Amino acid sequence: MTMMLKNFTKNGYHIEKSVTPLSVHEELFFIFYDLSLSAINRKKIKLDYIPKNINECYFPRDIKELDRVLFSLLEYDRDLLGEIYDTVAYCSTFFKLVSNSKIEEISRELLSLQRSSALYSTTHRIRMDWPEDEKRRAGWHQEIFHTYPDFKFIQTWSPVIRNSTVQNGTIKVCPGSHKHGIAKQNWEDEKDGYATRILIDEKIVDKYEQIDLAMNIGDVLFFDPLLFHRSGHNSSSEIRFSQVGMWNDCSIKGFRAPKPNFISRTYSPRDNYEKHMFSDKNKSQAK
Ligand SMILES: [Fe+2]
Repeated sequence: MTMMLKNFTKNGYHIEKSVTPLSVHEELFFIFYDLSLSAINRKKIKLDYIPKNINECYFPRDIKELDRVLFSLLEYDRDLLGEIYDTVAYCSTFFKLVSNSKIEEISRELLSLQRSSALYSTTHRIRMDWPEDEKRRAGWHQEIFHTYPDFKFIQTWSPVIRNSTVQNGTIKVCPGSHKHGIAKQNWEDEKDGYATRILIDEKIVDKYEQIDLAMNIGDVLFFDPLLFHRSGHNSSSEIRFSQVGMWNDCSIKGFRAPKPNFISRTYSPRDNYEKHMFSDKNKSQAK
């Protein structure tokens, strides 16, 4: 057994240093900035400042410029940020971040898979956690109820664009808590602006040591589906960007690929067909 596997079995997590290149974080910074400027232009949002021209931006010097446009979008309409969140997750640059070969190698080792085994991604995303935001902050949970039943997987988490610190609310874990098994927890549906929360009984969490895992961009955290973890409190004035996602073993009995369910934010392909085939303009052209 390798040292990494030994520590992972004992603590329920492993941090690999300097995995993703700085250049990918730089590219992601520009992707977020570009999408933010597009949203501002598309919605004709009036700002009391002029956003910095993207061609004059430098990474990491101008991360605060990105914070500024994202804060403006949040103020205007939170749904626009939801759309940016969904867009980033299917941008080519994002695939570069999560499909890193070192991440594949470590995930396979931790899942006891062969070098050629398929790894299936579930809902890899980049979270944006706002200063002082409590409503979307994740409380103590295990990942098991946030994914499909009977899957075997490794969870990954990593800071993106800027380092994660205690001040900006980096991830917290309870070392060794994965050995507890499935802990008693309470499911609270989305309500009053709070996201759905499936929280572990506090009395159980209190039995364990709770540590903050401050990490530098490039570092990647791998953890067990049963490890107790949560977001810290972002007491800084900056957004914490973090990649979350799971790599699943496709060979086990419980694995069944979920059916993708992409829903248009505007109108459906059928509506589009109707519009083009049966609009008054088309009818008159057909005559
Ligand atoms: Fe989680």
